[in-house]
Amino acid sequence: MIEPLLSKLEQRLGGRLYAKQRLGIETDHEAQIFGQGLTFFHIENWYSIHSVIRTLFKLTGLYWRGQANAARVQVRHNNVCFGKLPPAFDGFTLLHMSDFHADMNDGAMRRLEEILVGLKYDLCVLTGDYRAATFGNFEDALSRIRRILARIGRPVYGVLGNHDTIRMVPDLEAMGIRMLLNECEPIERGGATIYLAGIDDAHFYRVDNIEKAASGIPHDAFSILLSHTPEIYRQAAHAGFDLLLSGHTHGGQICLPGSIPLTLGSVLPRRFGAGAWIYHNMAGYTSTGVGTSIVPVRINCLPEITLHRLRRAEEGGSSVGAVAQSQPEKETGE
Ligand SMILES: [Fe+2]
Repeated sequence: MIEPLLSKLEQRLGGRLYAKQRLGIETDHEAQIFGQGLTFFHIENWYSIHSVIRTLFKLTGLYWRGQANAARVQVRHNNVCFGKLPPAFDGFTLLHMSDFHADMNDGAMRRLEEILVGLKYDLCVLTGDYRAATFGNFEDALSRIRRILARIGRPVYGVLGNHDTIRMVPDLEAMGIRMLLNECEPIERGGATIYLAGIDDAHFYRVDNIEKAASGIPHDAFSILLSHTPEIYRQAAHAGFDLLLSGHTHGGQICLPGSIPLTLGSVLPRRFGAGAWIYHNMAGYTSTGVGTSIVPVRINCLPEITLHRLRRAEEGGSSVGAVAQSQPEKETGE
């Protein structure tokens, strides 16, 4: 059963060691509730509690309002300036989508299909969590992702999240997504080159390798890292990345008024939990994501897709993410 998959991954990755190791770690730890990953407790893997949480939301009357919020996907704009950005990339725009959990978020997926029409961007990046569950069938999730892919321009790059399995990679790549498994790709424009790297899941399976992903990047080049979780912000900044794009936190998903999350489910300073932020010389962005997990509900935390517009900083201006603004296209309030 496993052999055909291993052969496919071996061909794709140029060897079977990584695929074998990744599949082995998945088999050992898939859906484990305690003691694996960067956090000790994984509520997303405690499936018997999910229906209890859902019932509690229904009893409080918040369920239906939260479910409506979960379908209100916003387009956010994040403008970031860099002194290091080659002039040819001034205005280069990335469409960033994260945390689809596509098979449990029908409303958000339908809204996404609508709002993608007419968006203008140069490249699309996906920062993981295509599936709702953390184990088992992924066909339903991938068939929804396929419909989204039909509505977006190429090229598309992606990484895996903690809800995903490396078994999905051949299908995701067959759809036209170049998956970055601790890998890097040069992006060329107007004779200049920037680098787009991506790491495998750092949160749960801990199969990230930033050193490998960054190894082909010239030290003075402008580079972007895709990681499902922003929890690796220190390693990314000190590896010299200029921009880190991530998701995973869902912005808290269930928040107090003022978008204050009850939990981020991450080892992370709260200011890195959603939107734009800066750490040392690196600009970062944490998407609140398209979908939801555990319960199909959002409170005080709307879903989003993001257009990141890279700008070259003025001569004499700050050489790092001097401007990092995130503005909702249309703030509907809750
Ligand atoms: Fe997620």
